[in-house]
Amino acid sequence: MGTLEIKNSLVRSATDEGLSTEKGAPTQRLINTLVELAKGGAGLIIAGTAYISHEGRWGNTGTGMDKNCLIKPLSQLCKAVQKADGIIAAQLLHCGSTVNPAILPEKKSLLGPSAMIDPVIGHPVLELSRDHILKIVDDYAKAALRAKQAGFKAVQIHAAHGYLINQFLSTSRNWRKDQYGGSLKKRSLFLYQVYEAIRGAVGKEFPVFIKMSAYDGFPGGVMPQDAIQVASALDAMGIDAIEVSAGTPEGAKKGGWDHIIPAPFKEGSLLKYALQIKEKVNCPVISVEGWRDPLKIVQTLEKIDAVSMCRPFIREPDLANRWLGGDLSPALCISCNKCLDLTLKSGLGCIFHKRKKDGHS
Ligand SMILES: Cc1cc2nc3c(=O)[nH]c(=O)nc-3n(C[C@H](O)[C@H](O)[C@H](O)COP(=O)(O)O)c2cc1C
Repeated sequence: MGTLEIKNSLVRSATDEGLSTEKGAPTQRLINTLVELAKGGAGLIIAGTAYISHEGRWGNTGTGMDKNCLIKPLSQLCKAVQKADGIIAAQLLHCGSTVNPAILPEKKSLLGPSAMIDPVIGHPVLELSRDHILKIVDDYAKAALRAKQAGFKAVQIHAAHGYLINQFLSTSRNWRKDQYGGSLKKRSLFLYQVYEAIRGAVGKEFPVFIKMSAYDGFPGGVMPQDAIQVASALDAMGIDAIEVSAGTPEGAKKGGWDHIIPAPFKEGSLLKYALQIKEKVNCPVISVEGWRDPLKIVQTLEKIDAVSMCRPFIREPDLANRWLGGDLSPALCISCNKCLDLTLKSGLGCIFHKRKKDGHS
């Protein structure tokens, strides 16, 4: 992936661990969690999303990449992961108006491409001014540089799942009349500026990835043909890898899809979107969502560069080593999505871990 060679094609997709302090510093429990994943053999670990500015926080237990004073504690995290033979990337996010309701009361205002009542949260959204947009672009660049200085081996731009960059791309959120709204080219300008600013900050050699939604899960959001064009443009600009997701909370609200699909679903349920993008780009493409069966994954790796998983690694942090060691039974994760509530309440976890500790089964 660019200058980065990963250990194998099983990637841990970014997973908000909910284990950082109120100020965004990693706790020892977060370090332990990521070290356990590194020891468990994942080829690349994409850490849970990190906010690029205080206003861009999604919740109050996420990791911060917004202040220089966080570089030191984050470098301890990176060193610990590296010592455990892990390769770790940072995912960078401004959440836009998609915030965790738990911190809604302390957000002075919700921000987005256009003024509206947020269709998911139900609160008013203020339209970002041009100067504010340029400040956010700069915040991304500074956050990426901090990630590099802390020792992350790559950064991933979070452009999926209904957060700010995704909102700019979507006609259901972006009604602007200036250079940031209108045609797909104009709606993508913010993303391209973010990419170029990050590239300028970290240099040509440092790997920069993107996670994008190939389909927002409802007509009016990002559609597959839009995503293919955006992916091709980023490929030409020099992006080092594209992770292809789909679905948004808005999709779920409008009777379509959210991005964390509960069981039952088809193995690798979003593969067709990743393959459509793979056909048009030169950089490596990663398919996320619903990978559980190693035999199907092996077949798929003939067509795609890597697969990424989130929930399976929560239940089994050593999943990659288990499969690479020859135990080819599918992931134990049943995709019940209870990890979402658990993570919000008490930090990353799986109900089956709790049961085991309590002596239930
Ligand atoms: C607890 C939890 C936290 C997540 N946090 C993030 C995140 O920080 N960034 C991100 O891009 N996706 C996040 N996701 C979505 C996953 O990365 C992934 O796209 C989705 O769960 C589908 O993959 P899976 O079927 O392997 O779980 C999260 C999902 C869960 C369940």
